[in-house]
Amino acid sequence: MARAAVDGLRSIELGVADLAASIKFYTEVWGLRVIAQDARAAQLRATGPYHHVLGLQARPQPALLRIDLTAPDKPAVDALHQALRGAGIAAITAPTALAEPGGGYGFSFTDPDGRKLRIVTGDARHADSAPDADRPSKLTHLVLNAPDRDAISAFYCAHLGFRQIDKTKGLTFLCCNRDHHSIAFAASDGASLHHVAFEMAAIDSVMRGAGRMRANGYDIEWGVGRHGPGDNVFAYFVGPDDVVIEYTAEVLQVDDSYKVRGPDEWVWPPGRTDQWGIATGPTPRLAQAQKRIRFPAEPSHAAR
Ligand SMILES: [Fe+2]
Repeated sequence: MARAAVDGLRSIELGVADLAASIKFYTEVWGLRVIAQDARAAQLRATGPYHHVLGLQARPQPALLRIDLTAPDKPAVDALHQALRGAGIAAITAPTALAEPGGGYGFSFTDPDGRKLRIVTGDARHADSAPDADRPSKLTHLVLNAPDRDAISAFYCAHLGFRQIDKTKGLTFLCCNRDHHSIAFAASDGASLHHVAFEMAAIDSVMRGAGRMRANGYDIEWGVGRHGPGDNVFAYFVGPDDVVIEYTAEVLQVDDSYKVRGPDEWVWPPGRTDQWGIATGPTPRLAQAQKRIRFPAEPSHAAR
């Protein structure tokens, strides 16, 4: 039997200082829609099938509370649970029905660097998933700072079924479906959020979104450009609570025939940070924000 593996990045759960302000930004400017809400939390969907791609919880300190990955079915969830227990992960819940909007079946665990994750299957999906030129369709990747990116990349490959797809001097890219990468680890001094990328329908949507952000007081902190690994068009912004958010499009779709490259092959000419050579930044403000959002030491709302 094939080894169990995750097959998607569904959503992240953010702790935010001002819930109402964050909901207003992510709906009116960024392009998401509220799918469920109560006094302390909200779930926001993109245009794609996932029930939600962003959870927001009112918290005294901004934080990345949890990352939700998908698995294809219940046996895969159970097998991943067994593999993680076998790998010595002690902070892990038993697989169970999830009592929250969107539901599903899954379990939570804490990875060796202290990140909270959850594996989910059977959650509700939207049938109305037509693309919209001015709204994100899904999260396409998450970049996470790591004190030892080789060790944590090896862990995610061995126990969650990711495969390492490219490596540059600063980033290690991990793949779990057709998208070039769903998670990347950045060499850093601790475990925190580097940035989260939202997929847009086309380059034109990235450009229009960047214009909408500027009109609302959010400058482009890096971009617009085209990355090397992943070949995606990008524009980076510092959003509410200094969360770094990216509009991206044209993410390279890969299969097993993709030729993986290493740090010596991913090299830019001097002064260049993207394929086109027109991107401005990254700004010092972006670099500072890319280390600000950490995982809380206290348990997250694992049952949510
Ligand atoms: Fe990115």
